[in-house]
Amino acid sequence: MDVYGLIGNPVGHSLSPPMHEAAYEELGIDARYVTFEPPADGGAAAVESAATLGVRGLNVTIPFKQDVLAAVEPAPLAERIGAVNTVDFGTDPPTGYNTDAVGATRALRSHDVALEGTAVVVGAGGAGRAVAFGLADEGMSVGIANRTESKAHDLAAEVPDATGHGLDALGELVTDADVLVNCTSVGMKEDRSPVPADALHADLGVLDAVYDPIETRLLRDAAEAGATTVDGAWMLLYQGVEALERWTGADAPVEKMNRVLRERL
Ligand code: ATR
Repeated sequence: MDVYGLIGNPVGHSLSPPMHEAAYEELGIDARYVTFEPPADGGAAAVESAATLGVRGLNVTIPFKQDVLAAVEPAPLAERIGAVNTVDFGTDPPTGYNTDAVGATRALRSHDVALEGTAVVVGAGGAGRAVAFGLADEGMSVGIANRTESKAHDLAAEVPDATGHGLDALGELVTDADVLVNCTSVGMKEDRSPVPADALHADLGVLDAVYDPIETRLLRDAAEAGATTVDGAWMLLYQGVEALERWTGADAPVEKMNRVLRERL
């Protein structure tokens, strides 16, 4: 039996075990997906121990995404982002990926959103950082808007072809954009959007990383404007899909994983 898992502290109530185990079943893989909660300073040690124990793959969440870099060979995008959320033990040293970035780009692509032209990323925290690098990696120009404007400028200085802004620039940025991704917590458990509704338009693909609720105020406003909308569960799903495909080399059973995830959200 193969073992996969998640390390975090707190690891909390994760949707990854049922989503991944449903995929193993569908693919006929004899495996389990378990959660581990190492001490807050034990991320790299946990990865080394997992390698010793023959664990095949790990997902990594807060607060370990930076620390585990010391225990892996990061893939180029993960290295640029400076954070790893998926470890593949099929190589020596293990390879570290950042599927937050790919989760967003695959979620958008799965809804026929072309990753061309100009993107706006709202938020410059961990998620905003990964998504900004991911969209830039696709060749998009990225405008980053953040409540704390200095953080947007700092991030934009690292991301190719990116500019940093305060939230007050969002109206203008979004009017001219092709893709918009919300990576702030605005809209989580509240009926509020970080983006002025009158800037949204029909030529826009909008992904909201918030998935509680699934239908956020931003996505409702975007749908009303005729935009293509992609909810946060798609980003969660494709992070898992990408990890599973890296670990197993198989094509993930996307529909099954999507069904299991949405049943539990
Ligand atoms: P994550 O890992 O999910 O990205 P994070 O690193 O804590 O979480 O980042 C949270 C993001 O949401 C930040 O961009 C934060 O803006 P600041 O950098 O100014 O703190 C943004 N955010 C959180 N609450 C917000 C609010 N009420 N209005 C606007 N932005 C908010």
